[in-house]
Amino acid sequence: MGGPHEKLKLALFATVATVAFGGGAAQAAKLTLYCSAQEDWCQLMARSFEDATGIDVNMTRKSSGETFAQIKAESSNPKGDVWWGGTGDPHLQAAEEGLTEPYVSPMRAELHPWAISQAESAGDRTIGIYSGALGYGYNTELLAADNLPEPQCWADLVKPEYKGHVQMANPNSSGTAYTTLATIVQLFGEDEGFEFMKKLHANINQYTKSGSAPIKAAARGETTIGIVFQHDAVKQAVKGFPIKVVSPCEGTGYEIGSMSIIAGARNMDEAKAFYDWALTADAQNLALEVNAFQVPSNVNAKTSDAAPDFSKIKLIDYDFKKYGSSAERKRLLQKWDEEVSTLPQ
Ligand code: G6P
Repeated sequence: MGGPHEKLKLALFATVATVAFGGGAAQAAKLTLYCSAQEDWCQLMARSFEDATGIDVNMTRKSSGETFAQIKAESSNPKGDVWWGGTGDPHLQAAEEGLTEPYVSPMRAELHPWAISQAESAGDRTIGIYSGALGYGYNTELLAADNLPEPQCWADLVKPEYKGHVQMANPNSSGTAYTTLATIVQLFGEDEGFEFMKKLHANINQYTKSGSAPIKAAARGETTIGIVFQHDAVKQAVKGFPIKVVSPCEGTGYEIGSMSIIAGARNMDEAKAFYDWALTADAQNLALEVNAFQVPSNVNAKTSDAAPDFSKIKLIDYDFKKYGSSAERKRLLQKWDEEVSTLPQ
């Protein structure tokens, strides 16, 4: 008795008991979960939380930017309770705009400092649940069939020989693609970074809605290169597809995948119960069942040998405060819409 897990189990039981028996008319306890990680991981989290607590979960998967926009649009009449997963920048923006609720979980003591600083920088309105480095992956068979050189750097992706071979998501909908835009601006400076995005645009065959779609397309042989988080490329390689993962030579940005409780959540007790549970090592270990190779935020959670090795990745000092701020995210996206997306291809 007395360990943090025992306390948490008791707290979870107390929540379920209050919800199930406390309110007179027996209404099943429920939770509306907005999820921005991979669909299979979202499903597994929802079903496992149901099994652990008896709370019914209604889960929808949408990309990070889309979920931010939905929570903002619903803010006068919130429909979601918890937003789990997705890149941290739009979670930080939601925090700044007061769309999410401050909460300090008893599980915080088990988290890595990077997960806690995400919370501290946002008045406890969000917290880090995983982290992952950006990069890209390519289909080795298509590359060889087209006699293309092996790309190794960001700079390679804008070379004319890759025209029509590169896919990425739209940074408005996708947190992955926004992380790409912000990374390029931080690596090369704003002017040179936007020149890079314009040249890249000339090589892009499609902007997808979801961040991991480009590497799934590469696995199916529909595009040669997909700009994604490295762990999303590893997932396809582990499934047996001919995908090689690239950590760009200039260095790269990363995400602190985050979780937030939606302000005015209708099911606030259940939201907190989910939040506490999602920070446990057991819940975070579920990732490995669906080949989600992010770095978990709980220090006791497991990582796979297949996961990208952070000690070998040249990471930039990604400025989450700046690029997760409302004004900067809006400004960069608008500039990309006006100056990049409208160019002919
Ligand atoms: C994938 C990655 C996550 C990331 C998410 C963002 O699911 O595995 O690490 O947080 O993409 O999704 P989005 O569709 O917003 O780019």
